[in-house]
Amino acid sequence: MTSTILVTGGAGYVGSHTTRLLLDRGYRVVILDNLSTGHIEAIDSRAELVRGDLQDKTQIEAAFKDRDIAGIFHFASNILVGESMEKPWIYLRDNVVSACNLLEVAMAHDVKRFVLSSTANLFDAPDEIPIKAEARIAPGSPYGESKYAIERLLGWMERIYGLASCCLRYFNASGAHPDSTIGEDHHPETHLIPIVLQVALGQRERVTIFGDDYPTVDGTCVRDYVHVLDLAEAHLLAFEAMKDGKSRKYNLGSGSGYTVKQIIDHAVAVSGKPIPYTVGPRRPGDLPVLVADTKKIADELGWQPRNSDLETILETAWNWHLAHPQGYSTPKA
Ligand code: UFG
Repeated sequence: MTSTILVTGGAGYVGSHTTRLLLDRGYRVVILDNLSTGHIEAIDSRAELVRGDLQDKTQIEAAFKDRDIAGIFHFASNILVGESMEKPWIYLRDNVVSACNLLEVAMAHDVKRFVLSSTANLFDAPDEIPIKAEARIAPGSPYGESKYAIERLLGWMERIYGLASCCLRYFNASGAHPDSTIGEDHHPETHLIPIVLQVALGQRERVTIFGDDYPTVDGTCVRDYVHVLDLAEAHLLAFEAMKDGKSRKYNLGSGSGYTVKQIIDHAVAVSGKPIPYTVGPRRPGDLPVLVADTKKIADELGWQPRNSDLETILETAWNWHLAHPQGYSTPKA
């Protein structure tokens, strides 16, 4: 029998790419999304949409009605580290309340498998680089704290209800679907790669590099960029592995780090356009280097970051931006 997966935030960036992969692999998908930051155009026509908000349990119930949900992929969330320092309650309260509501309804419907979209922001004070899945947790912001709280909630769900969960801590999600129909479109955009490509398109005058006095090869921050399709694949592998009833936690990156300046240089090469930049002050909360150690998921699930070489990431992102210079057509506030 075809399994039905409930995808919260399926109209968002990682959620829409994962939905596409689930459908391609023969799963049925029901998306629960309030479309506050997600895009209706990002939703695959084969998926069902229940427009609803996780703050309201009756709206979550609507997604379960007359459906046998085999598993949940939980993407819907406030996701910005910087914003969480200014508006902590939409993270410390809303992200956690949404997860509590979702889990309460899911447990009443006897859901047995749950995949959480978690974050590298759990590792604000790494003792070593690359960062292993077992590394000491020190959330770097209310955003990271909210994801850590949800990871801990999942531990209780396992103990009390036997829920198997997999927490996937993404490093820097990036790239777009190779057919350029879905990609990254945030309002406002704060992420490096889309901003750099908007400069290449002539939509912004320049990129501001947030600090060039870090202890790295060229003084700019090092990040681990992982292709959104590789993240999607990890979700499917995790879901399938949890047939054994066991919970897991993995770090997801490419295993390689690039500085901000290296990203700009590669983006110039891929786009063939000039990308002017200036250097500004450091952005509060940024760490010099964040790179994932992905050995655990490679050993246990056989996951490999097949699309996460920087050329593929930048080429797919560039093609998405060329095809959708204004992003998805429905405007966002
Ligand atoms: N950067 C600039 N200029 C910009 C934007 C970004 O110099 O205009 C720099 C940042 O300072 C950072 C790097 O580019 O050094 C990457 O920044 P992003 O904003 O693209 O991504 P972050 O590393 O800050 O955060 C991302 C996700 C978080 C997640 C984190 C985990 O947005 O949700 O990765 O590593 F928690």
